[in-house]
This record gives sequence, structure tokens and C-alpha cells, in this order.
Amino acid sequence: MEIDKSLIAELKKAKSIVFFTGAGISAESSIPTFRGKDGIWNKLKPEELANFDAFMKNPEMVWEWYNHRKKIIQESQPNRAHTTIAEIQNYFDEIIVVTQNIDNLHRRAGSKKIFELHGNIERNYCINCKEFYIENLDFSAGVPKCKCGGLIRPDVVWFGEYLPMDQFNGGEKAAANCDIFFAVGTSAVVYPAAGLINVAHTAGATIVEVNIEETALSHIANYTYTRKAGEILPQIFNDYSGSAGLN
Ligand code: OAD
Ligand code: ZN
Repeated sequence: MEIDKSLIAELKKAKSIVFFTGAGISAESSIPTFRGKDGIWNKLKPEELANFDAFMKNPEMVWEWYNHRKKIIQESQPNRAHTTIAEIQNYFDEIIVVTQNIDNLHRRAGSKKIFELHGNIERNYCINCKEFYIENLDFSAGVPKCKCGGLIRPDVVWFGEYLPMDQFNGGEKAAANCDIFFAVGTSAVVYPAAGLINVAHTAGATIVEVNIEETALSHIANYTYTRKAGEILPQIFNDYSGSAGLN
């Protein structure tokens, strides 16, 4: 796929770039997405698992699912989309990742500035006293409990819960102040996260969408590349570095 010359020209002038990412950026790392073809929510209903009531009703089942997902994530590696975003940190004043993913792959790829809107599967906390548990939890005696007796849950945002305020505010500020806003591998239907695209658009940022199919946001995107993130992002920044003489 040909990369638009006008986008490369805009990249050359850009100081601050935001990468707003969703499950699709990790699809090439073999982590299943939620929606779209092969999406998990096609088979499982999020309300059966990803909410606090479901956890209180059946913590074993919810933990089983998160442990399954955690195992897939631990066995996976960042792909060319994640590593490209990390590599270009040297070329721009500011590269900020705002991710809906809980898989930690941006950090493992080497990205430094990351706002995690939906938490991180490597952390857990007590529902009672909010104490954090980072180490591997022991499930030998059932669902792990805190010193205070409270159940320990994964530090991920469930349906009906607030996003971590510091992360959301950081992401919002980044969206409002960037020159170019890439939306990569997200169906852009889950709010308030998806609202950041409008924040960037309203503030005048150039919106670049990378997704294997058109989405709810395609109509406001200045550029839409319907290709795999792991193919198109390296191509865009190869063209950029070639034309900027950085090779
Ligand atoms: P979705 O699963 O809703 O969307 C994934 C998107 O990635 C789809 O639009 C796919 O077309 C696209 N996609 C798949 N493979 C791709 C590839 N190789 N390259 C580029 N795009 C690809 O994931 P999110 O938008 O992240 O929330 O979903 C948002 C939130 O809904 C998630 O954070 C999660 C979920 O419920 C919570 O768990 C709180
Ligand atoms: Zn506790």
C-alpha cells in the first residue's frame, strides 16, 4: 500500500504524536481481540465476565478467564507495530501512547510515555483495602485474598467502572495537544476512551486510522489505512525516515 506523501510531509513537521491503541494492535501478537472477526465478545458476553457483579457472584469463573488471558499475554511478544512506536521515540519531541490494552506490550516494546486507560493485567488489588499485589498470586487455596481478608481482583477496568483518573486525564491532555493522532486497532466504540479521538479532532490534530476494516471513526479520519498495524506502521515510518534522511 502506498503511503500518502502529504502524511509524510506532516510527520516531518510534527512535534507531538499520540498513538491511541486498542486490541487490534496486539492481534499480530496472537492476543484475540474483543470485537470484529474472531472477537471474544462474539462468543462471550462482557456483562457475564467483565463487571464487578459477575466477580462477586462468581470470582472463580472471572479469575479463570483472566488467568487464561494472562497466560496468553505472558507467552506473547510485542510485534512490529509496538516496536515501531518505540523506535521512533528518538525522532520526535514527544511520542505518547494512550492505550486501551491491559497487556503491557507497549512497555515491553520500550515505549516510555504510556497512559493505560483500562488498567494492566500484571497488577492486582484488594477490593476491600485497595492494597496492590504485583507478584504472582497463589490460587492453590481458591481465589486469593488480601491480608485484610478482602478478595483480590485484577487491576483492570470493568464495564460500569470509572477509568483511572490520572491516566484518562493524561491521555486527554495528550490528545488535545498533539499534531498527529494515530488510532490503531480499535473499534472506537467503547467510551469514554473512544472520545479521545474527538478531542484530538476538535483540537485540530491530523487523525490517522490504522485498522483492518473501517470503523465508527473512519469518517473523521484524515487518513485511513485498512491494513494490519504490524505492516503499515513500519512502512509509514520507513518512508518517513527515508525521506528525512534518517536511515
Ligand atoms: P476491539 O476488539 O473492539 O477492536 C479491535 C479492532 O482491531 C477491530 O476494529 C479490528 O478490526 C481491528 N484489528 C484486528 N486485527 C488488526 C490488525 N492486525 N491491525 C490493525 N487492526 C486490527 O478492541 P478495542 O477497540 O481495544 O475494554 O476495545 C475497546 C475495549 O473494549 C477494550 O479495552 C476492552 C473491551 O471491552 C475493557 O476490557 C474495559
Ligand atoms: Zn485488603
